Amino acid sequence: MVTAEMPRDHLPEGEEKRRAVRQMFDTIAPRYDLVNRVMTFRLDVGLRKKTMRASAFEPNSLILDLAAGTGDFCIELEKDGHRAVGVDLSYGMLASARTSAPLVQGDLLALPMPHQSVDGAVCGYALRNLVELPAFFAELHRIVRPGGRIGLLDVSRPDSRILRTGYDFYFNKVVPKIGAALSDAAAYDYLPRSLSYLPDRPAMIEMLSDAGFSNVVHTQLQGGLSQLLTATRV
Ligand SMILES: C[S@@+](CC[C@H](N)C(=O)[O-])C[C@H]1O[C@@H](n2cnc3c(N)ncnc32)[C@H](O)[C@@H]1O
Repeated sequence: MVTAEMPRDHLPEGEEKRRAVRQMFDTIAPRYDLVNRVMTFRLDVGLRKKTMRASAFEPNSLILDLAAGTGDFCIELEKDGHRAVGVDLSYGMLASARTSAPLVQGDLLALPMPHQSVDGAVCGYALRNLVELPAFFAELHRIVRPGGRIGLLDVSRPDSRILRTGYDFYFNKVVPKIGAALSDAAAYDYLPRSLSYLPDRPAMIEMLSDAGFSNVVHTQLQGGLSQLLTATRV
């Protein structure tokens, strides 16, 4: 049986991270949806809908689902009447996708799309897996047309001490056990650790502004268990 080769003694950076993340998602792809729904009690479905509402795309837009995985955002985008295209680094995840939208294998840091070629983009639960956030935000700015909108959804650690205690217990103790039982131990041991890759709120807002986005709004969802960034391409 193939297992994820994500190191447990350190959080990889640079090319080591890119390779480990890709191999990990290739490994867990067949059971990704099952584990996701069990772990999040299906709350991830509602969060994607919220992301799309907050992104406020114009009708019938061409929207990229970046780090599309198994294509959940593509499905929601098409239900809303948009044209969706999914991009992901992992062939395994794309091969397990359940969407009819076109899917492209590619790296978010070097997107295979021309300048200003799309009306907007969404990205679900992938920011912490990227090697470099400013480079991703620069790519987003390159491919989205002026006036286009973006919505970036990821997990976060709540501010409230009570919620944080529950969160730490669930993500550090329960999630790795669910993941190990249903899928792959190393992959779901990495998941809670990967949160520390994410810069804090002010830093992410500043990075998006520096990349050329305006109206940058950071919203805490579910009491701070998830975070959403929306912005307009200048
Ligand atoms: C946690 S999954 C999220 C999948 C999907 N967006 C969702 O909402 O369920 C993270 C995804 O990011 C992809 N990914 C990680 N690094 C990437 C990169 N540099 N370029 C493109 N995709 C990447 C992984 O292959 C994986 O499918």
